[in-house]
Amino acid sequence: MPIPEHIIDEIRDRNDIVEVVSQYVPMKKAGRNFKANCPFHQEKSPSFMVSPDKQIYHCFGCGAGGNVFSFLMNHVRVDFPEAVKMLADRVGVKVPAPSKDDGVRDSLSQVVRRINQLAESFYRERLDLAKGVDSPRDYLKRRGITEETIKTFRLGYAPKASGAFLSYAKRKGFDDNTIEKAGFVIRRDDGTIYDRFRNRIIFPIKDLKDSIIAFGGRVLDNAVPKYMNSPDTPVYNKGRHLYGLNIARDYIRQADSVIIVEGYMDLLTPHQAGFRNIVASLGTALTADQIRLIKRFTRNVYILYDSDKAGQMAMIRNLDALVTEELNIRVVQLSEGYDPDSYIKERGKEDFEKALKMAIDLFDFKLGYLLKMYSDKSLEAKVKISKEMLETINRVGNAIVKADYIRRLSDALSIPEEALYTELKKAKTGKGDYLSKETPAVTERIDKMDDAPAAEKMIAGLMLEGSDWIERTKSYLSQHDFDHPHIKKMVRILYEVPINSKGIKPSQLISRLKEEVPPECISALVLTVEGMEDKEKCLEDCVKRIKQNKAKRELKSMQSEIQTAQLTGDNALTERLMGQYNRLLRGATRG
Ligand code: UTP
Ligand code: MN
Repeated sequence: MPIPEHIIDEIRDRNDIVEVVSQYVPMKKAGRNFKANCPFHQEKSPSFMVSPDKQIYHCFGCGAGGNVFSFLMNHVRVDFPEAVKMLADRVGVKVPAPSKDDGVRDSLSQVVRRINQLAESFYRERLDLAKGVDSPRDYLKRRGITEETIKTFRLGYAPKASGAFLSYAKRKGFDDNTIEKAGFVIRRDDGTIYDRFRNRIIFPIKDLKDSIIAFGGRVLDNAVPKYMNSPDTPVYNKGRHLYGLNIARDYIRQADSVIIVEGYMDLLTPHQAGFRNIVASLGTALTADQIRLIKRFTRNVYILYDSDKAGQMAMIRNLDALVTEELNIRVVQLSEGYDPDSYIKERGKEDFEKALKMAIDLFDFKLGYLLKMYSDKSLEAKVKISKEMLETINRVGNAIVKADYIRRLSDALSIPEEALYTELKKAKTGKGDYLSKETPAVTERIDKMDDAPAAEKMIAGLMLEGSDWIERTKSYLSQHDFDHPHIKKMVRILYEVPINSKGIKPSQLISRLKEEVPPECISALVLTVEGMEDKEKCLEDCVKRIKQNKAKRELKSMQSEIQTAQLTGDNALTERLMGQYNRLLRGATRG
């Protein structure tokens, strides 16, 4: 039920960002812009800017930025529809009620939510029915789960019979197809279907609106798989949600911190012991979506994952993504062999509390881990450790924190700080040497603009100054000449702006790309270009540089083509490619 684009545009245009921000942050006029101490990080002198012309804000200290919607989302911590609603009310714009004309998709997700609701009460009743020794209730009791927790989390039980829920749902009027789309059945090779969840404890998964979106189920014995989860459905996307957030949200706000664990039981036992600001990622790698969810409630994150060695480095690298997102991450270590559930049960909540207090800052945790892994202190080890640590440091937005980390790394490895700074310049995110090449998708998606070529950033900023700059750029460069993924997306939209129009406002571009490009990446560009002396000259230089970069990329890919041709002994092809390569090389050096 998306709100129409033109309504969003209207609401954004009628809410002056300066007025809205001043409701929360006292600002001073500074030239054309307004300045303030940044509300998103601690600082003594103001580096937070709001531009009335561009209708954006940006902080040069911490890199926060965006338009009026992003401001409310990050400052008041509401989601996008809530921000729209607040601003619509402020200027008296009516947001149309969600329409039904959005066809199949919407109605299917409504039906799925209804089946989920039905399933929840079905499983809950079955849990109540089955009593006695070895009953599911008995199992929960043996695991220390109280009646109250069962109620709060609406735990249930899926019976043994292979069509128990299937036939129940059909009696209630749902057809096979819908039941399958909602993820409740598995299809056999012969086409018949049967219940996905059988003889399992059921954990309903809810979204922030308390609507049931999926289920997890655990066996009562040692059968495998131990846990089963709903597949992706029209209302559920694994990795977009956090188990228990609906219950933990207020506790997270109060505590201004969140504990992230892996699994259901690792959440329930601490919750019961009074640690209620807790969510479960239901899988080891945190996704960008889950990180964004967390950011709405707090910036302080305690990671409490099982300490099995195999997953350790992957986990640490996944956490690097949180650094980019400006979160304070601490890693909690439980003694070997424990998970949060067993730790509380065997050692008690006081020890658990102690473990939380002893949580280690991600930087130190990672450094400690690497020092242990390469304990020989050889030059080679130092190179590897510093490379890996620079990947983390490279993600830090704040220059002071960055400097502090460099100093600490320099101390730990006895390497001069200058050398680390030199390497830092070379370090690109996500290219570790010795680890699996597969970095989690998340690092890709929340990459900031630090690694974008300066020329691309500048030209994108210029194009936001008006349509004549877009036209000029267009006459020199095609969309394919740009390399950085975020900038490519911006260019795609900028190039569609009609000639002789006023162009596209930065605040509008932020809205257009809200699913694809983080708002602070756009606000950063705008303020870089502002106040630039010779924009003409800048454009020319940037065009030249972008073309050179493109040629370099082509040359590089050609080199590998030539290598392949040589290896396969295809002389004719090698010859031809070499010719092309040399022509390209001449062109590139001339430019
Ligand atoms: P664990 O294997 O660490 O189990 O899986 P656990 O949470 O300690 O479970 P208990 O204490 O034996 O009941 C952690 C999480 O990984 C997912 C689940 O979300 C689980 O809570 N998982 C695990 C699966 O999805 N499938 C599995 O087969 C196992
Ligand atoms: Mn466990």
